[in-house]
Amino acid sequence: MDAVYTHGHHESVLRSHRWRTAENSAAYLLPYLKPGLSILDVGCGPGTITADLAALVDGALVPDSGPMAPASGRVTAIEVTADALGLARAEAAARGQRNIDFAVADAHALDFADGTFDVVHAHQVLQHVGDPVQALREMRRVCKPGGIVAARDSDYRGFTWFPELPELDEWLALYQQVARGNGGEPDAGRRLLSWAHSAGFTDVTATSSTWCFATPEDRAWWGGMWADRILKSDMAHQAIRSGAAAPETLDRISAAWLTWAGDTDGWLSILHAEILCHA
Ligand SMILES: C[S@@+](CC[C@H](N)C(=O)[O-])C[C@H]1O[C@@H](n2cnc3c(N)ncnc32)[C@H](O)[C@@H]1O
Repeated sequence: MDAVYTHGHHESVLRSHRWRTAENSAAYLLPYLKPGLSILDVGCGPGTITADLAALVDGALVPDSGPMAPASGRVTAIEVTADALGLARAEAAARGQRNIDFAVADAHALDFADGTFDVVHAHQVLQHVGDPVQALREMRRVCKPGGIVAARDSDYRGFTWFPELPELDEWLALYQQVARGNGGEPDAGRRLLSWAHSAGFTDVTATSSTWCFATPEDRAWWGGMWADRILKSDMAHQAIRSGAAAPETLDRISAAWLTWAGDTDGWLSILHAEILCHA
């Protein structure tokens, strides 16, 4: 079940993750959230989505409710290492969001009693774990009967872009090779529903949504971020160490991301799958 987290937590990776909000990354789940609920956020990363979820279940933030404010819900955020968890802790502290508990835990073997949480959530995590079905079994176990297990994952083979720069095809092939070498599945989106069924869920709503980057600002952000990531993040070091890519290849891919970012015709769509599993 062991897998190495391909991206790591280099600044260039965090630049991407910290852009995420509950709205742009968990919209499919939002209609089911209300103050008072308890949520487990599996693989919370730097915790921007976590803090948003905590605000949504925080009874104290319900406007004009005075003494009738609903009880506050809580979010438990888990990560595999204390260092990674520290990033989410710092994000919550910076926002003054107090209804979050933090724990080091592995998605494959959650250290929580059966039926603990109303909602169990994982964003872009199942693609990185060694056994996503076991992770979903555990997410199901710690969810209350009648609760919701929610997961969203991208599908790398479903990414589409223009212009069709050959170096970006190289980037995709290299990412898939490194991620699979680490025990993950980068084309996770298309498999989410099947993983949920294998984990024992019988009532699953499966949907898809995309991120699209096509304005000069969005292209500069995404292209600049990957131009750095392919040279400096854990993935870059793994690609070199394993012999999957030479430094010149990474330089070429990095330059291509900047070319794409500077092209007024540049467009990129990132396909995601979502599952809402009724426990
Ligand atoms: C792509 S990041 C997503 C972070 C956050 N959910 C978000 O969307 O911003 C995936 C996170 O899952 C964590 N992770 C990887 N394997 C895990 C496991 N077995 N159990 C819990 N977390 C894990 C990684 O450390 C990483 O922070």
